[in-house]
Amino acid sequence: MRRRRSCSSSVSADATKRPARPETARVFFALWPPETVARQLASIAADYSQAAGGRPTRRETIHLTLAFLGDIAVERLPELQRVAGEVDATAFELTLDRFGVWQHNRLFWAGCATPPALLDLAYSLKKRLMEADFAVADAKRSFTPHITLVRKLARLDAGLPVANALTFHCGAFVLVRSRLSDKGSAYEVLARFPLAASQR
Ligand code: 2AM
Repeated sequence: MRRRRSCSSSVSADATKRPARPETARVFFALWPPETVARQLASIAADYSQAAGGRPTRRETIHLTLAFLGDIAVERLPELQRVAGEVDATAFELTLDRFGVWQHNRLFWAGCATPPALLDLAYSLKKRLMEADFAVADAKRSFTPHITLVRKLARLDAGLPVANALTFHCGAFVLVRSRLSDKGSAYEVLARFPLAASQR
């Protein structure tokens, strides 16, 4: 039987000609709920996935995404942090008071009425990022605040849970690095950006 000739030597020869790719980090900005709220949400996620299948979000990764950038060059991280630090936004209270299912991407989520300060924060952050030439995913879409509780739902017809509203103070937002693995995403908070105290 004739064997195919290995082409490994030509591949490695080509590879030596290519410029080295810069190391990248997968990053996004988010609000990180306090532990007590994350615990309650994780319990709701676990219960819902019992009924509807899918992968519940682990307590330690529960967050509300403000802007997703995806892969950026690691050498741009200091600039990214500087730009985020320039965002001028105010602290606010957030009340999670609703649940929903998106059929198109099979997500179960917790949501909120959007306080104006949250909209201001999301839009100011996106604007500053784009001015600094950072590509923001889905930049043309309007901001739909949600916390994903279960992904890859097996069933889309499970009834939505009834739960008390959960209110928490958002006094900062964070820059997060995500590392993907077979076990799901591992998140590392790289930086925290305090929001100005609101004048009530
Ligand atoms: P999701 O919860 O609605 O899936 C980290 O991946 C976070 O960034 C998730 O909360 C995810 O939102 C959000 N995100 C937004 N746009 C994304 C994209 N294009 N690819 C991956 N995650 C994205």
